[in-house]
Amino acid sequence: MRTRITELFGIEHPIIQGGMHFVGFAELAAAVSNAGGLGIITGLTQGTPEKLAAEIAKCHDLTDKPFGVNLTFLPAFSEPPYPEYIQAIAEGGVKIVETAGRSPEQHMPALKAAGIKVIHKCTSVRHSLKAERIGCDAVSVDGFECGGHPGEDDIPNMILLPRAAEALSIPFVASGGMADARSLVAALALGAEGMNMGTRFIATQEAPVHDNVKQALLNADENDTRLIMRPLRNTERVLNNAKVTELLAIEKEKGDTLQITDIIDQVAGVYPKVMLDGDMDAGAWSCGMVVGLIHDIPTVDELVRRIMAEAEGLIRARLTGFLDDEPAVARA
Ligand SMILES: Cc1cc2nc3c(=O)[nH]c(=O)nc-3n(C[C@H](O)[C@H](O)[C@H](O)COP(=O)(O)O)c2cc1C
Repeated sequence: MRTRITELFGIEHPIIQGGMHFVGFAELAAAVSNAGGLGIITGLTQGTPEKLAAEIAKCHDLTDKPFGVNLTFLPAFSEPPYPEYIQAIAEGGVKIVETAGRSPEQHMPALKAAGIKVIHKCTSVRHSLKAERIGCDAVSVDGFECGGHPGEDDIPNMILLPRAAEALSIPFVASGGMADARSLVAALALGAEGMNMGTRFIATQEAPVHDNVKQALLNADENDTRLIMRPLRNTERVLNNAKVTELLAIEKEKGDTLQITDIIDQVAGVYPKVMLDGDMDAGAWSCGMVVGLIHDIPTVDELVRRIMAEAEGLIRARLTGFLDDEPAVARA
């Protein structure tokens, strides 16, 4: 399939694996890129620019295809050394960066000087337009359904994607709630040039996370996510568990006076315990509503092949079929 996104990034299929804390290691990024999509290493997960450089080198050993690095600009107690991370990315020969959180404006000169294409993840049309204005090459439009940080506007992709299509000139992918061929074809119909998946890629053979995480995704459904940290305007969609229930009770009790320190036990240092140790109640971890559409743990290659084959079937048979004269019942 050819879209402006496959052309921009030099990939075979318009499927991107979004950066994910303690999931986006070289093994998963390389598997996605080898399957013809765009795999992404999560920069800050590596801990230091030197360790990111090593992870990039490992990914080059695992794939000859293009892959990217995610740089997340979220509120943090101490600002990570972003210029050094960008230097490691540039020196590692990576030509694609997914930015997220705050605007990447101040880092655009360095990224562009290194010949890097930037796809910025945005949860609103206004942020997408800003990304376009500051020179981003593409946008990942992240709807309210998404795992992670959906922003504060609460606009689902059924509205957000066509609004982005109305407003943007640069290409964009649909992010949030994407799981299968139906998601991809719907995203294309709504004006996107491909899709970005987070949660779905965790439930794959190659995702380097504890098996308990994959099983938790199989066991959960679309009613099992919760929004946390809304009073802090740092809303995050997470999978419900004992610690999340505890956290929500604290939020209710504190109301508008909530401080991050009130819920630090439920949110700090959680990811290695969940993703590496499989301690599913260690705290709050991101998960999308799309978890309701995850019913198996295929290899990344099987998943991507299935999506592309079924997407072709949907477009050629189901959709064009609606335009045929033959009645639908006769086709069934
Ligand atoms: C476990 C997990 C961790 C994530 N960590 C990050 C992150 O560190 N940086 C980031 O930009 N996005 C992060 N995301 C968001 C994803 O990149 C992607 O935008 C999101 O998962 C899309 O929604 P979906 O889960 O419905 O596919 C994370 C998502 C999940 C599920």
